[in-house]
Amino acid sequence: MDFWSSALYDERHRFVSNLGEGVMHLLSPKEGERILDVGCGTGDLANEIAKMGANITGVDRSANMIQEAQNKYPNLHFQIMDVYDMEFHNEFDAVFSNATLHWVTQPELALEKLYQSLHSDGRLVAEFGGKDNVLYIRQAIQDSYHQLFPTYDQLEEPWYFPSIGEYASLMEEVGFKVSYARYFARPTPLDGEEGLKNWIIMFAAGLLAHLNKTETNQLVNHVEHKLKPLLYKDQQWLADYCRIQVIGYKK
Ligand code: BEZ
Repeated sequence: MDFWSSALYDERHRFVSNLGEGVMHLLSPKEGERILDVGCGTGDLANEIAKMGANITGVDRSANMIQEAQNKYPNLHFQIMDVYDMEFHNEFDAVFSNATLHWVTQPELALEKLYQSLHSDGRLVAEFGGKDNVLYIRQAIQDSYHQLFPTYDQLEEPWYFPSIGEYASLMEEVGFKVSYARYFARPTPLDGEEGLKNWIIMFAAGLLAHLNKTETNQLVNHVEHKLKPLLYKDQQWLADYCRIQVIGYKK
C-alpha cells in the first residue's frame, strides 16, 4: 500500500529536501559521476545532484513519488524500486540517501544492497533519523493512542532510529570503511498552526491507517494538546529531529 501523497509532500513537507542540503555538501558530487539516490521522493535532490554534472538514477518504493519525480524532471532517470530489491552490481561511484534509511527496518540487508551497488572505492553518503528521533512526538502518539483507544492493538512503529555506533558497526560488518559518522539534534520547524497535524498525517499515515477520520482527528488533537508546552514556540511547531550522517567507502 502506497501511503505517500506526492502533492502533500511537495506542498507541506518541502523542508525534507531543503534540509538535505547539508548532506549534499558531504556528497559533493563531481562532473560525470554515476550516483544512485535511494529514496529519492519527488526528485528535488536528485535534480540538484544532476545540476552539478553527475549522472543520477533515483529510486523510491513509492509509485506516487516516482511518478511526480518523473513529471517534474523528465530528463532524469527514476525507477520504482524497494532498496531490498535492488540488483545493481558495481555500477555507481556514490550512493546517496536522505531521510529514507529510517524507513528501512532490515538495515543489514539494505546495507548489503547499497554496498553491492557501488564499485570499488565508491562511497555511501547518507543522512536519516538517529537514536531518539522525534521521541516526544512518538511518545505522545503512543500515550494518546492508549488513552483514547485502550482496546485497540498496540501501535508497531515502522521506523528504525539507530545510534551512530550501531549503524557504523553494521556498515563495517558488510565491508564499508566508515570515514565519518555524526549525530546531532536538529529541531525542525513545521509550517503553520497545523504543522504538527500535517506531519502526523503525512509521516504516521501507515501507523494510523486502521483509524477512521474521526479517530485520527481525536488522536491528533490529543497529541497537539500534550505537546504544545514542549514543541510550540513563537507560533511555530518544532519537531524534535535527531539526525545521523554517515560516509563509508567500499574497499
Ligand atoms: C524523519 O525524517 O525524521 C521522520 C520521518 C518520518 C517519520 C519519522 C521520522
